[in-house]
Amino acid sequence: MKVLAAGVGSGLIGETGTGCGVGLAWLASGACPEARLVSIERDAELAALAQELFAEVSAVTVVHGDWSQLQRYGPFHLLALDGGGQGKGSEPPLEPAGWLNQGGVVVLDDFTPMTDWPPTYDGHVDQARLHWLRHPNLLATEIRTEPGAATVLASFTG
Ligand SMILES: C[S@@+](CC[C@H](N)C(=O)[O-])C[C@H]1O[C@@H](n2cnc3c(N)ncnc32)[C@H](O)[C@@H]1O
Repeated sequence: MKVLAAGVGSGLIGETGTGCGVGLAWLASGACPEARLVSIERDAELAALAQELFAEVSAVTVVHGDWSQLQRYGPFHLLALDGGGQGKGSEPPLEPAGWLNQGGVVVLDDFTPMTDWPPTYDGHVDQARLHWLRHPNLLATEIRTEPGAATVLASFTG
């Protein structure tokens, strides 16, 4: 996250699912001083805690709300989907147009590493992952970050 944030330069970074702010802290620590970061969290208590945590970091804004409301702050140069928008579970994934600048990068972690094609999850074809890996407007890849965990990175081609 830190490396990806550094690559943004003076751009805009978004995150869904602030949680306790761990990922956001990594993003903020890697980002250039001119970069701006906006993270959204639907849990009111967690959002308030994170707002307090980042109160003195002027580059960071933490918003309380559903992930879909983050779009109004974009388009982003880097978008970390950690709490909504991934398409995991029953909700549809977000569409990169309208969320990402051209060349902007979306990052999604916590996948089980792919060992076959198409990727499967829980015995079924992993449609959420395929949305990102086969999207016609994305150049995407999956990388292993631990033996048992993988991250999808995708650049928006417009
Ligand atoms: C995996 S945790 C995030 C961890 C955090 N990014 C970190 O690095 O510590 C997922 C978070 O997403 C939040 N979340 C889940 N669904 C959400 C939604 N629809 N909109 C906004 N936040 C959501 C959860 O409340 C939870 O705090």
